[in-house]
Amino acid sequence: MIRFAIDNNLKVEEFHSLLVRSGLAERRPVENMSRLRSMLENADLILTARWEDTLVGVARSVTDFVYCCYLSDLAVDRKFQSQGIGERLMHETQKHLHPEATLILLSAPAATHYYPKKGFKLHPAAFTRSGPVVLE
Ligand SMILES: CC(C)(COP(=O)(O)OP(=O)(O)OC[C@H]1O[C@@H](n2cnc3c(N)ncnc32)[C@H](O)[C@@H]1OP(=O)(O)O)[C@@H](O)C(=O)NCCC(=O)NCCS
Repeated sequence: MIRFAIDNNLKVEEFHSLLVRSGLAERRPVENMSRLRSMLENADLILTARWEDTLVGVARSVTDFVYCCYLSDLAVDRKFQSQGIGERLMHETQKHLHPEATLILLSAPAATHYYPKKGFKLHPAAFTRSGPVVLE
């Protein structure tokens, strides 16, 4: 049986291992454990899925809980994919938010067909900016 729980103290080694086992590692800074540790320490809401004691899924969010929730990392171990774990992790995340709060995420290229199946709408006016700030 899969157990779902909040785990805001998730260990960085477990997170790293799941990123690798899910395939999300290629799009996350897995070569830098210190950065991964900060991602966990500064997240606001971390939901985990465990089979026995093994971490098989995670949803890591940055949120104010009432208006917006950035679901940064949703990952499920390849061996456990397509069993409803990703859906349940998003559902459990939303249970901790105001009913009118919006979930926001950036899909990995391989998952762009996943989110529309789960009720997400493609936003035509989303922007991102990263890299060093350059003052003009
Ligand atoms: C994408 C991911 C989180 C989905 O979680 P999951 O537990 O496997 O998916 P669920 O069981 O909730 O949903 C299953 C359904 O979604 C579909 N699905 C799963 N992964 C999909 C994908 N990458 N693209 C399109 N559809 C996908 C399944 O075919 C299934 O559809 P069906 O109900 O019509 O049969 C998981 O596959 C994963 O971790 N992938 C690798 C990492 C990744 O890309 N994460 C997303 C980062 S934004």
